Formats: sequence, structure tokens, C-alpha cells
Amino acid sequence: MSSPRVSSTFSLLISFALLLQTVTFGANVDPISYSCSNENFTANGRYQTNLNALMGYIYHQAPPTGFGIGSLGKNPIQANGLALCRGDVSASDCKTCVADAISTIRKNCPYSKSAKIFYDNCMLKYSNDKFFGQIDNGTKYFMWNVNNVGYPVIFNQKSKDLLRQLADEASGKPKLYAAGELELNEGSKKKIYGLAQCTRDLSYNDCKMGLDRIISDLPRCCDGKQGGRVVTGSCTIRYEIYPFAKA
Ligand SMILES: *[C@@H]1O[C@H](CO)[C@@H](O)[C@H](O)[C@H]1NC(C)=O
Ligand SMILES: *[C@@H]1O[C@H](CO)[C@@H](O)[C@H](O)[C@H]1NC(C)=O
Repeated sequence: MSSPRVSSTFSLLISFALLLQTVTFGANVDPISYSCSNENFTANGRYQTNLNALMGYIYHQAPPTGFGIGSLGKNPIQANGLALCRGDVSASDCKTCVADAISTIRKNCPYSKSAKIFYDNCMLKYSNDKFFGQIDNGTKYFMWNVNNVGYPVIFNQKSKDLLRQLADEASGKPKLYAAGELELNEGSKKKIYGLAQCTRDLSYNDCKMGLDRIISDLPRCCDGKQGGRVVTGSCTIRYEIYPFAKA
């Protein structure tokens, strides 16, 4: 639930994502990003029927627990999909986000066999491949706050410490989600706030591995930046200098 002030200070490494800011198709919130496979299915074929029904199922299944997953049909026209809401998002906000995700991805990638879309509050992906239980490192998005901190060496270390701690915590809980904070200095009022989350089809071990990998990507995007995120189809990390998520 970031304020407009916050999102306007973000830059996206994946430049095509910036184009999305101008195209919303009636969704309430713009996605962070999305990607569509080049491989298309046949319009009005059985895959499309399976996919549409699966999206309807996930839309109902995800909000109560924050996670929905399912498969419909048989290979090669099997539709596989999942939706995950941020671990602290209410069922009603989850529902709104998943609804936006489904309508936007189906409009933006009308014939793609597989696609992914990411928002602050949720993510959705589907494919004709049964991807469940595998770490998805196929697409990786980096975002950062354009403002620098005044003490980058300590700050980078502390943000990494916090995220490693949250990665340990998240990968030991059924929800595979953790959020928390760390004081920058002993007795200091300044804090770093973070979250770590994986899709719940991953094992604890794979969640930990996926989170550790993207934590080690932080220097690529977010060196000395006041906020940063690395987002993949399986795992997300984020840190900020203001509170943004509940534990
Ligand atoms: C898939 O469909 C999209 C959207 O209709 C189209 O732009 C693209 O060229 C198609 N790709 C292939 C490989 O046919
Ligand atoms: C994804 O992870 C696998 C190991 O699980 C690795 O072999 C592969 O190179 C990675 N791909 C990318 C694009 O990082």
C-alpha cells in the first residue's frame, strides 16, 4: 500500500514497464510490471476455455488465504496458474488486486500461453507448463528509490542483514512471508523496514534459496538507495526507510 509520493520516486530497470503507466484498462492500480510469452494459443480453442475457467477459480480461491493455485485440463492444453497476495493484505484488498491482475493480464497478453503480472499487493502467473514447486528465475524485476542514503556502507550492510533475517523467518513459516524492521544504529530512531515472501508452492528450502539469490542481486540495483525491491515469479524482497508492511 504505497502512497503516490513513494511510487513516483521509483525507477524501473525494465524499461518497457514504464509504458504501462499510460495504459490501465480500467484497473484501479497500475501493475509494477508484466510479461507475456511470445508463444500464442489458438483463439477460442480449448486452452483458452481452460485458462478462463482457471482464472475464475483462482479469483475465488486466492482471497481468503492470500494464495490460490490450480490446473485445468490435460497436457498440452492444460492451464496452470497461481495468485499470491502480499502476506499482510486483507482478503478484500487481495480480491481487488487479483481481479485487476486477471483483467489486465488477459487484456495485455490476450493469446499468450504463459504470462505473469506483478502489483504491490499481489502477483499472478499462468502457463501451459506445470511450473509448480520450481524456483522461477525467468524474469526478474529491480526497482529502487532514486534517493541515496548518506551512509551507504552501513546502510547496505544493515538492509542485507535485515533481509537475510526475514528470508530465514519466511522460509520457516507456512505462509512463506515475513516482514520486520532493524535499527540502523544502536539506540538510533532510524530504521530499515523489509519484507521477504515466496509463492506457497515452493518448499521451505527452495524459498530460502530463491530469497538468498535475490538478496545477493541487491548491489545490482539498490546500492546505497533508500528503498529497493527484487521481484521474481517465485520470490520477492523489499526494503524501505519507512514502514510499508505488517508482520
Ligand atoms: C502473439 O499474439 C500477439 C498479440 O495478438 C501478437 O502481437 C504476436 O505477434 C503473436 N506472436 C506470435 C509468435 O505469433
Ligand atoms: C535459474 O536457476 C537455475 C538453477 O536453479 C540456473 O541453472 C539458471 O541459470 C538460472 N537462470 C537465470 C536466468 O538466472
